[in-house]
Amino acid sequence: MLILENISKSYAGRGKVLDELNLHIEKGESLAVTGPSGSGKSTLLNIAGLMDRPDSGKIKFQGNSILGYDSSEAAEYRNRNIGFVFQDHLLLNHLTVKENIMLPLLASPLSDDDYGIKEKYVDILLDKIRITNLKDKFPFQISGGEAQRVTLVRALVNRPSLLLADEPTGSLDQKNANLLGRLLREINEEYGIALLVVTHSEDLASMMRNHLRLSEGKLV
Ligand SMILES: Nc1ncnc2c1ncn2[C@@H]1O[C@H](COP(=O)(O)OP(=O)(O)O)[C@@H](O)[C@H]1O
Ligand SMILES: [Mg+2]
Repeated sequence: MLILENISKSYAGRGKVLDELNLHIEKGESLAVTGPSGSGKSTLLNIAGLMDRPDSGKIKFQGNSILGYDSSEAAEYRNRNIGFVFQDHLLLNHLTVKENIMLPLLASPLSDDDYGIKEKYVDILLDKIRITNLKDKFPFQISGGEAQRVTLVRALVNRPSLLLADEPTGSLDQKNANLLGRLLREINEEYGIALLVVTHSEDLASMMRNHLRLSEGKLV
């Protein structure tokens, strides 16, 4: 589904972060990429999400070459196909949980009927992620673990086929980290959403079906 071919990326003063890296993500797969801090995990994820560009290499998504996309095509690629979960929850404090979750829908306006269908889907997700009771709360009224689960629902609203997660459990305690890991896999298996999780957590990585390590700019 997503193919990265011979991807290289350097930063001034740092030299090569990614060095002719190759990665294939199949439909419905779950893959962890681990590596120490500074090894290039976020760089890899940002390139896969077209937030950053490689110096060289090719990227194909569902057979289409996507590196030539301009910024609005890249935004559409992300909005249609990709969900994101980052280490910090990035919820807006003046919006309720439900409003935060519905936010990605603003990018592509819906008819009232379609909005209603989405709302029903969100209710199913809230239930699945076990946060239905939080829907009308504001971010300051919920815990960090709960906020991260809200982020996960928000990432799924546009029915992505690939979820990109960058240290999703990085600010969670062990118990909440395990719960989030389990929920990610449930979503992956029940909805067939492919999962690319970059993390330094071996625990989280062990919950994914496949596991690669980032070493000297390559996946091994
Ligand atoms: N925008 C940037 N400009 C310069 N150096 C960067 C930039 N982004 C990342 N780096 C450097 O690239 C390396 C890899 O960073 P990163 O991908 O964030 O690693 P990780 O997520 O594995 O901790 C680090 O040495 C980091 O300092
Ligand atoms: Mg990082």
